Amino acid sequence: MQISMKIRRYDPEKDARPHWQEFNLDVAPTERVLDVLNQIKWELDGSLTYRRSCAHGICGSDAMMINGMNRLACKILVKDLGDKITVEPLRGLPVLKDLIVDMEPFFDSYRAILPYFINDDPPPPRERLQSVEDRARFDDTTKCILCAACTTSCPVFWTNGRYIGPAAIVNAHRFIFDSRDEGSAERLRVLNDANGLWRCRTAYNCTEACPRGIPITKVIEETKRELIWQRM
Ligand code: SF4
Ligand code: F3S
Ligand code: FES
Repeated sequence: MQISMKIRRYDPEKDARPHWQEFNLDVAPTERVLDVLNQIKWELDGSLTYRRSCAHGICGSDAMMINGMNRLACKILVKDLGDKITVEPLRGLPVLKDLIVDMEPFFDSYRAILPYFINDDPPPPRERLQSVEDRARFDDTTKCILCAACTTSCPVFWTNGRYIGPAAIVNAHRFIFDSRDEGSAERLRVLNDANGLWRCRTAYNCTEACPRGIPITKVIEETKRELIWQRM
């Protein structure tokens, strides 16, 4: 199959601004966008720069905008995109080079919500037991791979980079709704900030972008309700 792949390129050491570069290639329809990027890098232009690691949708490192939507390059097949493909870096984060963005602002928000189990009670002799129903309350939000596809597809984040963003809310939800955890009040306080979850305008872009199928907008609404219940 003959395809044209246009890639938004930027090298801060050479370019005043980003530009498009087009590659015309012969690829199998069942190849993934990551395979095509590898082909370009290994056979045509070794300077092409992008993140990737697992190549199986687990590590979250190759989220990028493909034909206008945030997706993982290792999960999307050429045949599902057609013969004209555009690839750009995620929006709303500073571009370091080509398809690599600076993830630090994203991880700052993640760290702010205390993404770890908090419980100072002495540990029981065996595991901390939890009912099946209680475990189910946060099952969806355990699936996040921190790819940033959600936060960087959010129009609120594009206009206000200080908005904590859906990924941080998803990861706060994972612990707030864990019956064994005791750090919820602190997490809800962080989310109640002027740039916290009330900035969400229910745009749904995040839910559509999530490669793990997490119902993010519903998760945000549940967390908003919890804040109201807690009268914070
Ligand atoms: Fe990626 Fe989904 Fe996690 Fe957002 S919630 S960072 S889109 S896996
Ligand atoms: Fe943004 Fe998702 Fe809310 S796209 S506005 S965080 S529903
Ligand atoms: Fe790990 Fe795509 S390379 S998710």
